Amino acid sequence: MSERWTPDSWRKKPVLQVPEYPDANALAEVEAQLATFPPLVFAGEARNLKKALAKVAAGDAFLLQGGDCAESFAEHGANNIRDFFRVFLQMAVVLTYAGASPVVKVGRIAGQFAKPRSSPTEKQDSVELPSYRGDIVNDSAFTAEARVPNPARQLMAYRQSAATLNLLRAFATGGFANLASVHQWMLGFLKDSPQSRRYQELANRISEALDFMRACGLDLESHPELRATDFYTSHEALLLGYEQAMTRVDSITGDWYATSGHMIWIGDRTRQLENGHVEYFRGIKNPIGLKCGPSLKPDELLRLLDVLNPDNEAGRITLINRFGSDKVNECLPPLIRAVQREGRVVVWSCDPMHGNTITSTSGYKTRPFDRIVSEVKSFFAIHAAEGTHAGGVHLEMTGQDVTECTGGARAITDEDLNDRYHTVCDPRLNAEQSIDLAFLIAELLKRERATRARPLPAASGL
Ligand code: TRP
Ligand code: MN
Repeated sequence: MSERWTPDSWRKKPVLQVPEYPDANALAEVEAQLATFPPLVFAGEARNLKKALAKVAAGDAFLLQGGDCAESFAEHGANNIRDFFRVFLQMAVVLTYAGASPVVKVGRIAGQFAKPRSSPTEKQDSVELPSYRGDIVNDSAFTAEARVPNPARQLMAYRQSAATLNLLRAFATGGFANLASVHQWMLGFLKDSPQSRRYQELANRISEALDFMRACGLDLESHPELRATDFYTSHEALLLGYEQAMTRVDSITGDWYATSGHMIWIGDRTRQLENGHVEYFRGIKNPIGLKCGPSLKPDELLRLLDVLNPDNEAGRITLINRFGSDKVNECLPPLIRAVQREGRVVVWSCDPMHGNTITSTSGYKTRPFDRIVSEVKSFFAIHAAEGTHAGGVHLEMTGQDVTECTGGARAITDEDLNDRYHTVCDPRLNAEQSIDLAFLIAELLKRERATRARPLPAASGL
């Protein structure tokens, strides 16, 4: 592991979840072309995110990370991006105001295309075909032709990521995210729901606070903090050929950065110490995530931290826990204790989605909202007991009015799933469920801040 790192040194290691491209030359050509394309993000932005995450690690901010399980070529459109961003802003504002905590905003977007699969093939009746691995690799249609990995899809994914990021940057800085617009982020189909009323109340209070400051003589227009927000992108860096092509040297520091997104993470299925994914990640300077599932042992985690963050740099590592509501109480405390004992600086983030997936009686892959809530509550309770900061959440969510997760305020049932089940991969929280969850997390965050041990007053002289 201490051998010299290069952007392609992962190729000498075992790599899991690799698509079988029929034409190696065509793949190499696409990768060579991608390597000439402009970076999607800048190293300086990734460094800013790392600084923001260092604040989360220190207990002074909260990480909100979320978006689609998988982006798709078919759903690429302005409305979809806008609706997602709106709900995300609403959640952020709820957490910022009610939780009285700065929120670091990271989308699972503009690059979240590649999916790990539990089986390389999928069987329907008597037909067996290669599994769908995300739109960057193949097509989800169940035909032999669609399932052949096609390298040209990587170019499509790059272009879609660039266009998505372009719109997100415009929204984040061009006026849409202005706190003065806090009322306008409410989506039409949410009007008259309990969530919308609760949100309107909060938006009223924010408007009043802004009016009050204006009346006091503050020129709000001269404060860019109120008018814009920092929004970052992230995805699972599964397809290492694509990631390698987007890996560039930062001219200011001479360091290597992944420029496919601000933050990238290693999946729970590809985090083996000796394998290619860990090798790739150790050489790039971005803030990175590590998904932690029930099989991760405390010793193994510490060795991964040795390799991925040898200098124990704050903000570099976010541990994204995905245990399931029934396992979190058993799995999380040993990891926290090991990290605390060794003095490692990390952000603890809760992914309450991936450990809570079940198959409904109607045959859909779904996630009961109450299990999601239960894992989040346990996450906060465990951190309170351990004296550590519940640093963030990682959600699969959409701005659309889908019926993919059961439960929530509107009590979506197994039978309802069929109405608007649109995901190409895992079930997502819909807009209403997302806002509901944000209010709940804000309460938990407020409680944590109230009970967190205050630093001891300076010792008085004897
Ligand atoms: N710039 C601040 C922040 O990002 C305040 C802010 C502006 C904000 N627009 C926002 C917060 C939208 C949440 C949502 O936190
Ligand atoms: Mn998923």
